[in-house]
Amino acid sequence: MLRIQTYTLALGGCLLLGSTQLAAAPSATMLADTCAGCHGVDGVSMGPATPNIAGISEIYFTDSMAAFKSGDRYSTVMQRIAKGYTDEEIKLMASFFAKQPVPKTVQRTDPAKVALGERLHKDNCHKCHDEDGALADDDAGILASQWLSYLNHSMEDFKSGRREMTKKMKKKVDKLTDEEISALNHFYSSRLSSGSGL
Ligand code: HEC
Ligand code: HEC
Repeated sequence: MLRIQTYTLALGGCLLLGSTQLAAAPSATMLADTCAGCHGVDGVSMGPATPNIAGISEIYFTDSMAAFKSGDRYSTVMQRIAKGYTDEEIKLMASFFAKQPVPKTVQRTDPAKVALGERLHKDNCHKCHDEDGALADDDAGILASQWLSYLNHSMEDFKSGRREMTKKMKKKVDKLTDEEISALNHFYSSRLSSGSGL
């Protein structure tokens, strides 16, 4: 009974507020705040399995959200979350996150793997993931300084076919051994940060 009364009171308060402040559509910051529990404040994730989303391009952001919504892109939680936002809200968040600087995460990487990964990157991946995977304009996501666990999960999803790759990326990835893919992930996660070989 007490709980019902408290709820009614709280609801009454909200309705009052609603008629004044909450009548306006939510701002980009308010929307982005709903992601902070997993992706960190302003898209800088505390890791390790949730990606940084700060600094990703508007196109990559909106494409990813659309693909999560439709189920075209495999996800553990993002389909359910993406479905909760309108196209307008997604546009607002896309421009908010694109304006944030790409985070410099500090994480433990293996220097030998980083060196091998750098060579493999130059031979296979740099055309679409330029500037060591730090160029947001590539519309292929940002790999530089991304969390190692997330990169490992992403590459497993690609390799197993759960997540689709572009034909050209698949041609490159299919040639690589698990060790080589691990080296590439170490290389990307070591970029931008001073965390290499910690
Ligand atoms: C419960 C935790 C959680 C919440 C809340 C959450 N995310 Fe995610 N997000 C994830 C995980 C985990 C992934 C990796 C894909 C998956 O497995 O679902 C991800 C992936 C993403 C990606 C893809 C990043 C890339 O590099 O490809 C984007 C974009 C994204 N989330 C946006 C958002 C936005 C915008 C919100 C808030 C409206 C949000 N997420 C809320 C956990 C979360
Ligand atoms: C022909 C262009 C192309 C090449 C070559 C390419 N990629 Fe990609 N890559 C893409 C695109 C486009 C995406 C975004 C896919 C999507 O929208 O889900 C992507 C996504 C990724 C992701 C997931 C990013 C995220 O945030 O979830 C990883 C990891 C990745 N690529 C690694 C590699 C590696 C390693 C190589 C080299 C062996 C490579 N790619 C070669 C185009 C390419």
